[in-house]
Amino acid sequence: MTIQILRSQINDYQTYTLADEEMTLLKALIKIKATQDATLTFTAGCRASVCGTCAVRVNGREVLSCAHKVRDGDMIEPLNYHPVLRDLKVDKQPAQKTLLNATAWLHRYQEAVLTHKDERFTERQTDCILCDACYSACPVFAVNPDFLGPFALTRAYRYSADKQESEVKSIVERVQHNGVWECTLCSGCTLVCPKGIDPKMDITMLRSLVVQHGYEDRTFAQMGFGTPDFGSEFGFDSNGEF
Ligand code: SF4
Ligand code: SF4
Ligand code: FES
Repeated sequence: MTIQILRSQINDYQTYTLADEEMTLLKALIKIKATQDATLTFTAGCRASVCGTCAVRVNGREVLSCAHKVRDGDMIEPLNYHPVLRDLKVDKQPAQKTLLNATAWLHRYQEAVLTHKDERFTERQTDCILCDACYSACPVFAVNPDFLGPFALTRAYRYSADKQESEVKSIVERVQHNGVWECTLCSGCTLVCPKGIDPKMDITMLRSLVVQHGYEDRTFAQMGFGTPDFGSEFGFDSNGEF
């Protein structure tokens, strides 16, 4: 089989031939580096879908290279919206700064008894491995680089739903700008998450929470949904041109 990999030095795809055997993309990358091209650069750690370092795009869709079974014709590219350091290796710091911007942590601790049910409520969001796949899949970053983005909002939701958080309002205030209302609810993030997290649902839940705190979508609020203006006091302007 042959696969193509976007190489940063030539800004073009380079074709590599591999034996027709079942293997993960990460194993294929390691083989290529060891036997064909020592300059090929990529990142990986655990090789078990745990550390989140090996995310790339295959045929336009984000995957963990240690979990993706490589196929003939696959086109491999680095994550979107991340500065490329070399080939498939990207700088994740700017994307992960969204966690800081969203202040996605426990703001003020309070004593609370947590039941198993409470733990299950935020368990899924806690599984995030910060692979950045959802960030790369989100179309909003193409037009708004200041958007807080899916994994930061998922984490903000996780803490807002934590009974040990006594200052939910400060999380609510933080996600108003470049946050919950900027999301288009397209589900792109949810479709690619390797841990089965649903950032779109978490953002929807956050929206509902912020409304309960008295906030609203400013853009929506500014839209006029009153009586249509037809151009005359009688409503329809018969001399109007169309
Ligand atoms: S649902 Fe929202 S956060 Fe997720 S990819 Fe779409 S726009 Fe981005
Ligand atoms: S929410 Fe899922 S896709 Fe996004 S960073 Fe976390 S594990 Fe990766
Ligand atoms: S190498 Fe750790 S998630 Fe793939």
